Amino acid sequence: MRCSLRCLTRVAVLGANGGIGQPLSLLMKNNKYVTELKLYDVKGAPGVAADLSHINTDAKVTGYAVEDLAKAVADVDLVLIPAGVPRKPGMTRDDLFNTNAGIVRDLATAVGKASPKAVIGIISNPVNSTVPVAAEALKKVGCYDPRKVFGITTLDHVRARTFVGAAIGKSPTTLSIPVIGGHSGETIVPLLAEFTQLSEEQVQQLTHRIQFGGDEVVKAKAGAGSATLSMAFAGNEWATSMMRALNGEKNIVECTYVESTVEPSCAFFSSPVELGKDGVAKIHPVPKLNAFEQKLLAKCVEGLQGNIKKGVAFGSK
Ligand code: NAD
Ligand code: LMR
Repeated sequence: MRCSLRCLTRVAVLGANGGIGQPLSLLMKNNKYVTELKLYDVKGAPGVAADLSHINTDAKVTGYAVEDLAKAVADVDLVLIPAGVPRKPGMTRDDLFNTNAGIVRDLATAVGKASPKAVIGIISNPVNSTVPVAAEALKKVGCYDPRKVFGITTLDHVRARTFVGAAIGKSPTTLSIPVIGGHSGETIVPLLAEFTQLSEEQVQQLTHRIQFGGDEVVKAKAGAGSATLSMAFAGNEWATSMMRALNGEKNIVECTYVESTVEPSCAFFSSPVELGKDGVAKIHPVPKLNAFEQKLLAKCVEGLQGNIKKGVAFGSK
């Protein structure tokens, strides 16, 4: 691509020493759209930065200790937030709210003060609530721009492509599958109707597996956390799309969780979003749903509304 605009992205990763943070930072260091990479964590970020800085790619890496948050988030275009605790078996994502909501609020506030124009991509769970938390925190420091605050739900798409690809005998790299709603259990709504080769039973099974794919990993890791490597892959995919759009490329569309009116009863919703040089360029409507998908959406809305309300209440406190 020839860049007529900035063609550079200064990226900060907050929570860079974590299970997601480390591989995501590696992928950012290896990403041709990143010119500057700033790594922050409450512990260990300078070490991760020193390690990555020996890799012979162009991105310049710096690490910041806990007291240097303001410096870490100054002069950046894109901030990725995987900071916070992950699930253990038996927990829901909502069980993480009490710890992670405060972490996301404080990090979003720091970004708002230091880089009010930065795009923020939130990975920390429960995404359905932490995105409204960040939005409210940014309102408090007077710089909320709904085009710039995103929940990263890309792992649901990555899973949808993988599981459907295996079921229909096609490479998952060739598939594009909309997944709308939110990012937890029944709030995740994969739209599989175009795969007419799947039986009704297969659609039901695949839908359930995509909705509860996170639990599969939590169970397999047996207390050692949740998805990290697949999430880093998904985070890199989302960030690459965002950086291409920030640098002026057109027609970049990702399903991602943003403030939205496409589903009138949910103030935040994931649907196909066209990305642009200011973040959200256009939110596409929810595609036409069949009867099965309409039932899924009804369940999704039920759960999502409460998650959003909880996030708004916390963030605006
Ligand atoms: P982890 O415990 O391995 O890493 C979290 C990191 O955050 C740690 O290094 C910790 O020191 C750091 N941290 C804690 N408080 C911080 C603060 N105030 N500022 C900066 N850093 C801070 O956890 P993980 O496996 O990397 O998961 C991180 C989060 O991502 C969890 O909430 C998890 O549920 C979520 N997650 C989301 C998705 C998604 O699809 N959106 C997928 C997987 C995991
Ligand atoms: C996932 O979908 O893997 C993540 O949201 C982590 C989790 O808690 O399941």
